[in-house]
Amino acid sequence: MASMKRVPLIAGNWKMNLDHLQAIATVQKLAWTLKDAKHGFGAEGAEVAVFPPFTDLRSVQTLISADKLDLVFGGQDLSEHDSGAYTGEISGAFLAALECTYVLVGHSERRQYHGETDEILGRKVAAALKHGLVPVLCVGETAEDLEAHGPSAVPVAQLTAALAGITGTPNLVIAYEPVWAIGSGQAATPEQAEQVAAKLREALADLLGAEVAEATRILYGGSVKSGNIAAFMREPNVDGALVGGASLDVAEFASISRFQKHVGT
Ligand code: 13P
Repeated sequence: MASMKRVPLIAGNWKMNLDHLQAIATVQKLAWTLKDAKHGFGAEGAEVAVFPPFTDLRSVQTLISADKLDLVFGGQDLSEHDSGAYTGEISGAFLAALECTYVLVGHSERRQYHGETDEILGRKVAAALKHGLVPVLCVGETAEDLEAHGPSAVPVAQLTAALAGITGTPNLVIAYEPVWAIGSGQAATPEQAEQVAAKLREALADLLGAEVAEATRILYGGSVKSGNIAAFMREPNVDGALVGGASLDVAEFASISRFQKHVGT
């Protein structure tokens, strides 16, 4: 069972899907579905977050705040810079001004398509923390990495590199997303996720101390669905999920968020 000391986080990364009008409809429907479910077996206990495209954030913020919805949200990326001549980039200050709680840092699609290195990601983690955002640092190995280096070497190296300049007791979330499991329908097994999550927690303890390691939530991501979430959540070092494709289907994402229903069944 995932530790009761850490509040589980179920996070939906919409990637480049849903414009601001679709976002409003989706968040409304999600909030209603979760609320409705609360009369039965709700999402109590889990924090539910969505990561919409930048152009949706103002609409999502307005809706969540006006209707006092029990949802939080974040950006999918941020600039390492605060402001200035960086065309197309988004400052962490702007995300904080929109009441984002979280920001994804180093998703494999950013690493792959935008050349984001561990050094850049270290600066992005620092920028997020500076602006009061909780970075969700994504790490994970490719199929080739897995074959060449085994299951945890690359994710641990990515974590270590990105957090090298960070000190104190930062509020962080780590998402372990094996690249081979993203969008493939081929999720890691719960045992594989647990093995890597445990190694990541050890690395966190070495870098930032036992207290931060104990408090930090480690999510699994890669082909998570309502049918496999319970098995991941039974693992002691897995504290939630980062969900891609299945987060675009409100009923499915709500069902994942109510993983307690599935735990023990
Ligand atoms: P899928 O859930 O579609 O495999 O995507 C995972 C992911 O990349 C979430 O950030």
